[in-house]
Amino acid sequence: NNYAIIMAGGIGSRFWPISRTSHPKQFIDILGTGKTLIQSTYDRFLKIVPKENIYIVTNEIYSNIIKEQLPDISDQQILAEPVMRNTAPCIAYASHKISSMNPEAAIVVAPSDHLILDQERFVQDINNSLKTVSEHDCLVTLGIKPSRPDTGYGYIQYNSQVLENDFYKVKTFTEKPNLELAKTFVQSGDFLWNAGIFVWSAKSILNAFDKHLPEINEIFKDGTPHYNSDNEQNFIQNAYYQCTNISIDYGIMEKADNVYVLPTDFGWSDLGTWASIYALAEKDYVGNAVIPSEKVVMYDSSNCMVNVPAGKLVILQGLHDFIVVESNNTLLICPRDKEQNVKQVVADVKSKF
Ligand code: GDD
Ligand code: MG
Repeated sequence: NNYAIIMAGGIGSRFWPISRTSHPKQFIDILGTGKTLIQSTYDRFLKIVPKENIYIVTNEIYSNIIKEQLPDISDQQILAEPVMRNTAPCIAYASHKISSMNPEAAIVVAPSDHLILDQERFVQDINNSLKTVSEHDCLVTLGIKPSRPDTGYGYIQYNSQVLENDFYKVKTFTEKPNLELAKTFVQSGDFLWNAGIFVWSAKSILNAFDKHLPEINEIFKDGTPHYNSDNEQNFIQNAYYQCTNISIDYGIMEKADNVYVLPTDFGWSDLGTWASIYALAEKDYVGNAVIPSEKVVMYDSSNCMVNVPAGKLVILQGLHDFIVVESNNTLLICPRDKEQNVKQVVADVKSKF
């Protein structure tokens, strides 16, 4: 009865020029491990659910990349969206489709572009959560101890009421607070980051949609006769254009009153910045991280993050604390502490070229 939904339709604008609309972060081997992030995500779920129960929801422009990178999954398991509408429609679609095949399904929903170091702990946590949601009507999210007041995350405050084992009742869920609020949350010590990994039964999440996002729920409920038929793609084309653009966090997690959190620690990173990639990448004794490394030569250079196409000859002389990234015939050279400016730069560059 266990299923996985992998969300893979985001565009990852921060990692330009490596990550582009045509080739976002989830399809890149950003840490130089030999596997792209979506391949690692898929492999993790193979340890938890049967292969045929893993569904990938993505934009239709990425369907072919997914087929290339995950040759083992069938076309039926790739759910293609005609337009980006954020994560709530993506989850509503996949949940209704799964529920039409198996109303008793228990589902884990996860991003396709995160890093998880402790695989065993992850598998254990997800199995534990799948069991819990099969027995209780609740929405489970995984919580990570925050290390800085990052405004890009959801913050979870929980109380001591325990559902079972380690699941705590969530008091408040605040998606992407402003900096001031984020600081208060982190200082107070009773908040966790939302890891963006959710576990629930098909029944519980569809009830929550019915209650908090009824329009989106109706749209995908109407698709029930079409799922797994020749008409599915036709139906979905129309359905998506009717959907509002909203994330599951704003649309449901902030509002539902049956949310529980499993506090955990499996070496999680959403790899959201070059700084986070740099922190995790393998470095030499002067702090240079190079992906891939065979033809990059450094003289008197330290603490640089270099990410260039394999085989590219690159020479660094006297460069310290820089990001050097090349992809798609585009080269970016930027001090490590100025990476926040890249988003603005990209917008600028896009309007010019
Ligand atoms: N199919 C599909 N369609 N997938 C999407 C879409 C879409 O329109 N938009 C985003 N995704 C995918 C992304 O590719 C990513 O894997 C996942 O859904 C989460 O989306 P993000 O856009 O990366 O969300 P976020 O990082 O801003 O926030 C979420 O994750 C944080 C942890 O990293 C929230 O859940 C936060 O609360 C959480 O703290
Ligand atoms: Mg993210």
